[in-house]
Amino acid sequence: MATSAKVLSDSATQFVSDVRAGLCREGQKELPSKYLYDPLGFALFEAISLLPEYGLTRADERLLRRHAREIVRHVPGPALVSELGSGSGRKTRWILSELCEREPVSYYPIEISRAALASCQSELGDIESVSIVGVEREYLDGLREVAALRTDGVSLLVLFLGSTIGNFDSGADARFLSEVRGVLAPGDSLLVGTDLLKPLERMLEAYDDCLGVTAAFNLNLLGRINRELEGDFDLRQFEHVARFNQTTCSIEMHLRSKSRQVVNVRRGGFAVTFAAGETIWTESSHKYTRQEIAKLAVSCGFRTEAQWVDDEWPFAESLLVAV
Ligand code: AVI
Repeated sequence: MATSAKVLSDSATQFVSDVRAGLCREGQKELPSKYLYDPLGFALFEAISLLPEYGLTRADERLLRRHAREIVRHVPGPALVSELGSGSGRKTRWILSELCEREPVSYYPIEISRAALASCQSELGDIESVSIVGVEREYLDGLREVAALRTDGVSLLVLFLGSTIGNFDSGADARFLSEVRGVLAPGDSLLVGTDLLKPLERMLEAYDDCLGVTAAFNLNLLGRINRELEGDFDLRQFEHVARFNQTTCSIEMHLRSKSRQVVNVRRGGFAVTFAAGETIWTESSHKYTRQEIAKLAVSCGFRTEAQWVDDEWPFAESLLVAV
């Protein structure tokens, strides 16, 4: 059957219903942070990872580069590797290269972004003895599919790098880790990267850089609504705000309306009124302590096998083993 341009795909239907729910709710308006990553958002996030103010990605990469051999030594072989939200896959090279010194490796990056899977394939496709199969799914659905492929005697190593876990709502990180644990077998491993609490100024600068790249990343979410859902957001009438929430220990990103305005989302058939100064909450980025990670692991059915912390930018790589 031919599809008309006016028919929304499943993902567009989900997008429009999430946008409606987030913008039409009582109280604080919000949009799910996963929608920040369309192809332009993904490219802007890659640019953020190069900013002098944003040390998170470099710390993650440094730890993996320096400690890959040791990390892999803790993982029982043969192992099948899956990654939740691989991004470009650049950081994963070190782990895969070490693992394939032992035996050929199958690597399953799981991403909702097709652009990210394509860039992961081109970034890592040159490593000999690694076969890459991209899984275009939500994390848990993808992980269940990957776990079903495993044969007897093969362990699973799941990578969840880059502190993506910090972008879950408060409490949702524990629920998510428990669900991941439910898919794993005892002895399987989860390598999780988490950004750590640091001085306030350093955290705020990381999310409000002077080039305005993070602001563009945030505003692009409204641009995406305009492009995909026929919205009429005037991006110049909104500004990027980064603030620290002491209660949840998270950096929050918001988009603040500079004036009273009405915005239409034509494909959703609704309009939203913004008061001057009103914000849309678009992302939370929780900052952990080392003790908190160990406690979280235990409460979700893991033990902490080992932990590595960067000496330039407080960030931890924790190897958790399913008990
Ligand atoms: C992907 N995630 C871990 C980033 C973070 O730091 O929370 C996303 C990001 N948002 C603004 N800058 C980077």
